[in-house]
Amino acid sequence: MKILVTGGTGYIGSHTVVELQQKGYEVIIVDNLSNSNINVLSNIEKITGIHPEFEEFDLIDPKRTSEFFKKHYDIKAIIHFAAYKAVGESVENPLMYYGNNLYSLVNILKGMKENEIENFVFSSSCTVYGQPDELPVSEKAPIKKAMSPYGNTKQISEEIITDTIHSKSQKLNAILLRYFNPIGAHETALIGELPLGVPNNLMPFITQTAIGIREQLKVFGDDYQTPDGTAIRDYIHVVDLAKAHVVAVERLVAEKCLKKPEIFNLGTGNGYSVLEVINSFEKVTGEKLNYKIVGRRPGDITKVWANPEFAEKVLGWKAEKGLDEMTFSAWKWEKAITKIK
Ligand code: UFG
Repeated sequence: MKILVTGGTGYIGSHTVVELQQKGYEVIIVDNLSNSNINVLSNIEKITGIHPEFEEFDLIDPKRTSEFFKKHYDIKAIIHFAAYKAVGESVENPLMYYGNNLYSLVNILKGMKENEIENFVFSSSCTVYGQPDELPVSEKAPIKKAMSPYGNTKQISEEIITDTIHSKSQKLNAILLRYFNPIGAHETALIGELPLGVPNNLMPFITQTAIGIREQLKVFGDDYQTPDGTAIRDYIHVVDLAKAHVVAVERLVAEKCLKKPEIFNLGTGNGYSVLEVINSFEKVTGEKLNYKIVGRRPGDITKVWANPEFAEKVLGWKAEKGLDEMTFSAWKWEKAITKIK
């Protein structure tokens, strides 16, 4: 069975390609390499023994996208990762985010219609909940006004998919996966996160500081209403997250017709503070991290973690890897890429 993975050379995409191939699926990747590297393809091959089929183009190009689908009409399901994802950048350049993230989605859905492709998994985010009123947050929690244009593109994308299903203008089965905070890397250290420039996210900033690329990690705020004062997130190992996509595809293919999109929170159900992540990193790596507490980062919420029960009940999927495994694998990856540089 042939699966299209858009953004398949990116961080979560590449791990998902590996899991799909290891389960026997044929994968074709579309990526414009705007935030990834072509070498990821050969590293995927080193892990799985299979070089994924690859086409480099921009999914915001309607003609090119339509031609692609005509050529690959035998695709059975699509996992759509390809999108911009930096919160701060989206505030500075909202049209870049709305343009890229929304046009590409529309072009893909049109291509699916033209070629009667029915199964679609969408890469969404827990950012749609904002600061939830109740924790852990379940899929029934209300959607709050987005804190950034990036977050808004995820909310609007979910609505575009839902409206398309309701319109009955095409047969569409969709699963929306709302990720919490993916970190870590594949155990082989052949694929992982490759941030361009200065990382925005906590984990790559920690590993780059420990290896000497950054001088010091800034911990944004220790005056939150949490036990140690630093903000709490639900960190999930990227390999656990990748596995959920395989199960989601299998569900779509088996169930045939879901009348509305199914939504799943993908997290571990455990919240860890910034200081707990740092402590885990120092413990498992033996490295001492240079960090200092500074003021809060604008737009950050205090705490969020998932209620992952629905995913376990319906998908039979549960995150298995703990925080120490996540921080250890992130460090192994950082050492591997620094060696190459
Ligand atoms: N943090 C620091 N120092 C840093 C970077 C992060 O202290 O240098 C803190 C943040 O303040 C936050 C925690 O570490 O408390 C996690 O921050 P990340 O940037 O790694 O992750 P966020 O939770 O802010 O963002 C993630 C995704 C976004 C998504 C958001 C939804 O990266 O795409 O979750 O909540 F929108």
